[in-house]
This record gives sequence, C-alpha cells and structure tokens, in this order.
Amino acid sequence: MTVSDPLVDGHGRQITDLRVSVTDRCNFRCQYCMPAAGLPWLERAEVLSFEEVTRLVSVLAGMGVHDVRLTGGEPLVRRDFPRLVAMLAAVEGVRDLAITTNGFLLERDAGALIEAAAKGGVGRVRFNVSVDSLQRERFHELTRRDALDQVLRGLDALAEFPQAHPIKINAVALRGFSEAEVPAFVELARNSVFEVRFIEFMPLDADRAWTSEQVLTGAELHALIDALHPLEPLVREPSATARVYRFADGQGRIGFINPVSEPFCSDCNRIRLTADGRLRTCLFSLNETDLRTPLRAGADDSELALLIRQAVWRKELKHHIGEAGFIQPDRTMSAIGG
Ligand code: 5AD
Ligand code: SF4
Repeated sequence: MTVSDPLVDGHGRQITDLRVSVTDRCNFRCQYCMPAAGLPWLERAEVLSFEEVTRLVSVLAGMGVHDVRLTGGEPLVRRDFPRLVAMLAAVEGVRDLAITTNGFLLERDAGALIEAAAKGGVGRVRFNVSVDSLQRERFHELTRRDALDQVLRGLDALAEFPQAHPIKINAVALRGFSEAEVPAFVELARNSVFEVRFIEFMPLDADRAWTSEQVLTGAELHALIDALHPLEPLVREPSATARVYRFADGQGRIGFINPVSEPFCSDCNRIRLTADGRLRTCLFSLNETDLRTPLRAGADDSELALLIRQAVWRKELKHHIGEAGFIQPDRTMSAIGG
C-alpha cells in the first residue's frame, strides 16, 4: 500500500470526490438548516487554515480524489476565500473545482473566484447557487433574510462569465411550500442559462423538525413539472446525484436530487472534510476522524494517508433515513457542508 493507491471503501466504492466545508458560519438562517439565532460558531483556532486545507487536499488528490467542492456554512463569508480557490486549483491531481453558495456575496466575488481558479490552473470553477423561492416574501420567510434581489444580482454577475456555465440553482423541496414555486422555476429553467435542481429535504436541520411528511419527493415534482411541459430523461452519469431531464421541446433542463426517496448511496464516491478538520464518510455519519490533531502534530503524508484510508474503509453502506432507529447526526448541514 503506497500513498498513491486509489482510495476505496469496504464496500468496493472508489472515493474521487471531496466536499470541504471552509467555515461553519453563514449569513443566512435557512429554516431547514440553521436556527434563527445561529449556532455556536467554531473558534478561529479550531478552523483549518488555507495551508492546512491545501495539505489535506494534496494528500487526497494523491489518492485519486480529483473533484473538490467547497461549501460552508457559506464559503464566501470566509475572509480571502478566493485565495484558497487559487491554492486548491494549483494542487496536482485536482481536476474539477466547484463551489456551493447561497449567492449573497456573488455580486462581489464572482470575478475574483473565476480568476483565482484560472490562475491556479484548473481553468474553471463550477457553481451551485441555493435558491429556494423566486418570490421575495417567501424567500425571506424561508432563509430569514430579505435577500432575494441580492442573490439574483449575484446570479447575473456570475452569468456574465461564460466559463462558469452551466450554472446550477439548487432548491430544497418542502411539501406545502415548494409546489407553489414550480411554475417560476420551470420558466427560469426554460428561459435562462440556469439549470434548476430540486433537492429532497433531509434530516440535517438544526431544529430537528424534519418529518417524512415534509419531504416533497422528486417523483411528485417531476409529475407537476411534466404536466406543465413534458420532460425527457437524460442519461445519468455514474455517481451523479441528480436525475436530469430536458424539456421535450428542447428548451432547458431540470434535475432532481432524491436522497430520501431514491437513495444513491450504492455508488457514492464522496467524503467530507469539516471546517475543523474532521473527515466524514457520510452526511449521516455518527462518528468522524480527526485529521487536524495529527496534521498539527506534524504527521507526514503517509501517516495522514493511512488515517484517511482506515476511515474510508469503514464508510457507511447507506443512510437509514426513514428506518426505525435512524439517528440524526449532531452536526447540522451548515456544520457538515452540503
Ligand atoms: N436537506 C436538504 N438540503 C439541504 N441543504 C441544507 N440543508 C438541507 C437539508 N436539511 C442544502 C442547501 C444547499 C446545500 C448545501 O444543501 O440548500 O443547497
Ligand atoms: Fe446558510 Fe446554506 Fe444553511 Fe441556508 S442552507 S443557513 S445558506 S448554510
């Protein structure tokens, strides 16, 4: 076993995708993620430095992890964030960089982020922007911030850059809320550069208010949308989380991420690194592996690689949402990174 052998788990899945949470802080308070008052934030010293993140990404890239997605909290609230993008874009083996953001700071940062990726050498960075409602009041209600206009300006700023296309918009689907958003999202998907994807609500909310009744499934949304404009499935790429459709008349596409009703655990190729340097092998992991302590104690690459390998070997077979005995992890989505 050498540092550069592929990273595989005990169920035969090869890990090629890393999600890095760069901060647990956020400037929104989405109801399905954070409580209104926020959460106790990590101390600055607990959060990995850019150099530490880059070191861990380098070790992982050496083992075949070539897709890196940066998340939060809200990644753009981390000071100097474009500098980290440039550092990661320069890591040998990193082929694809992506950012999941709520879009609030994109008007300010889109150009700097795209430039940073190009400078680092990856060439392009892909964006997922979370927008759950296209109506100002309802957006405000759900995110607890009156920020829809600012987010839409951020999307427009991003759309100015052809190298950022296609730009994905992610909407968490909530029963009793998202049905009314369908027509506006369909119009957006059909008449803009944005690809809209609905994500089923998962039990990762701080308020622990999730119930299966609140999950508006991808199948239900598909039926609502198909009735407005017929859909045709596109071929699903291996390990892709989204089922993507195009409108039958060729105008635009729309996707569904259905972790609850149609789990895609069996070909999961992902692991996660939290802002405080813990490796998580599943969104729903109940234990995590501390990489920060050995990193700060001076572990060399092969020691870090071994710790990672051992943790990945024990990667969970699947999540147990909806089963008796399901235990929601202590961390909320904002402290894991989506
Ligand atoms: N269920 C599903 N998606 C969630 N997100 C945050 N919390 C949840 C949840 N409980 C989404 C955000 C963002 C991504 C990081 O995860 O809206 O798009
Ligand atoms: Fe912030 Fe994203 Fe959580 Fe909303 S879902 S509170 S934008 S981290």
